[in-house]
Amino acid sequence: MTAEHRIRFLLNGQSRETAAASTTLLDFIRETERLTGTKEGCAEGDCGACTVVVTRVVNGEPVLEAVNACITLMGQVDGRAVTTVEGLLGPGRAAHPVQRLLAETDGTQCGFCTPGFVMSLHAFAQSGEAVTVENVHEALAGNLCRCTGYRPIVDTALGLAGPAREDATASPLGGLADSDVNVPGWHAPRTLADLLQLRAERPAAVLVAGATDLGLGPSRDRAPIVDAIDVTRVPELNDITETSTAIEIGAAVTYARALPHLDRLYPTLGTYLRRLGSRQIRNSGTIGGNLGTASPIGDSAPFLLALDAEIELASRAGSRHVAIADFFTGYRKTALKPDDVITTIRLPKLVDGDLFRCDKVSKRYDQDISNVAGTFRLRIEDGRVVEARLAYGGMAATPKRAMAAEACLVGGPFDAAAVDAAVAALPGDLAPIDDMRSTAAYRMAVAGNLLRRFLIAGPAPAGLEAMP
Ligand SMILES: Cc1cc2nc3c(=O)[nH]c(=O)nc-3n(C[C@H](O)[C@H](O)[C@H](O)COP(=O)(O)OP(=O)(O)OC[C@H]3O[C@@H](n4cnc5c(N)ncnc54)[C@H](O)[C@@H]3O)c2cc1C
Ligand code: FES
Ligand code: FES
Repeated sequence: MTAEHRIRFLLNGQSRETAAASTTLLDFIRETERLTGTKEGCAEGDCGACTVVVTRVVNGEPVLEAVNACITLMGQVDGRAVTTVEGLLGPGRAAHPVQRLLAETDGTQCGFCTPGFVMSLHAFAQSGEAVTVENVHEALAGNLCRCTGYRPIVDTALGLAGPAREDATASPLGGLADSDVNVPGWHAPRTLADLLQLRAERPAAVLVAGATDLGLGPSRDRAPIVDAIDVTRVPELNDITETSTAIEIGAAVTYARALPHLDRLYPTLGTYLRRLGSRQIRNSGTIGGNLGTASPIGDSAPFLLALDAEIELASRAGSRHVAIADFFTGYRKTALKPDDVITTIRLPKLVDGDLFRCDKVSKRYDQDISNVAGTFRLRIEDGRVVEARLAYGGMAATPKRAMAAEACLVGGPFDAAAVDAAVAALPGDLAPIDDMRSTAAYRMAVAGNLLRRFLIAGPAPAGLEAMP
């Protein structure tokens, strides 16, 4: 791992090399390549103006995903193909079918957001997903338009029904493969042993997974990452394995990959996770990265706490398992030692009769950080609650279980009287603050109301699934 090995990738079908690993993909596209069709709006992953499509080969098949170029770092595109809006044009700069349809449907006015929408729609069209209103809304929730209004844009997407999944940009990557990138300031080990070795040797280096948090440094704050260790190329961190009692998810598995599994195993969790960031964010972001931020409003912690998940941490000294309840040790503090890496997250499966529900309240339904998030799990035997887990985000300095409230539920039936007692106990368990998102009083009211909704709506109320 000593020889320099530059980042190699395809840009609109042309091969490129760079050593500028922590430059943002957007800066590379616009400033180095002068491909200015891709726009910069917010520079923090929120508006989708910078959306491009990144293609990688998975099991021999190309997988196209929309990502935000503003918070994607060049090191992350090694061995991948990047397509910008310019790369969609056909011979003689003929418009791509998505562009034609968007124009015919009057889906563009000033046009600033349009390249981003085109790229999101292109990825959607190539994904093979059913063209339903719900899927279209999900695919476009990370793209903001200030002047056209969304109806014509959604109409464009609905018009994509049934197009052949043809596209030259989706062709195999022409022999390009993940290389053992090793350039100043960026290391991308290919084995767990190398990752742990690097972690031990470079205690000041930053572990990078999807960079949906870390990318804000180079992008919004113009603060480059000086020394990075990319954890995403290590096979063990990319595994998803399932037994009869649990699912283990590698720390570098993206939300997009984990979502179908979690959706199948835990009622309401799919709906909840589809509100974590946007599709662009979920195509890059990981649960490992969410835990790594140690944010009290990270959306993974409440469901992991309610499920009694275990985190596997590894260092050169070996690996150990930490209960998620012991992982958060204080505001933005975790049980991670300086040479630790999160390798997997183990989530026990529900058993027959378990009641489970995740909820999130945020100012905007899609792509917004939680004001309050709650996940609740009850184990019921012979009509009585024998185990209760009530886990909240946004209600204390760390994600937290409400243990006094849990005790109010255990031993009797899950009914209105028990919930009233649990809601009354919440202020003893939780200490929310006033901040720009909410007042403490509002948060406490919401925390109680989510518990009441759990009782009224039940674990998987189809009618309420899509309710903001
Ligand atoms: C527009 C936008 C919307 C967002 N919306 C939400 C939201 O709704 N809910 C929410 O919870 N979050 C949200 N986020 C935050 C972010 O997407 C998540 O926290 C995400 O899970 C971070 O994962 P990542 O892989 O991108 O982490 P990175 O940015 O790569 O890393 C984040 C932190 O984790 C550390 N880390 C990464 N991998 C490991 C590892 N294996 N071991 C140890 N440490 C590690 C890094 O060193 C870093 O400190 C949003 C972000 C953006 C930009
Ligand atoms: S510029 Fe807004 S998401 Fe990238
Ligand atoms: S067309 Fe102007 S911002 Fe969308």
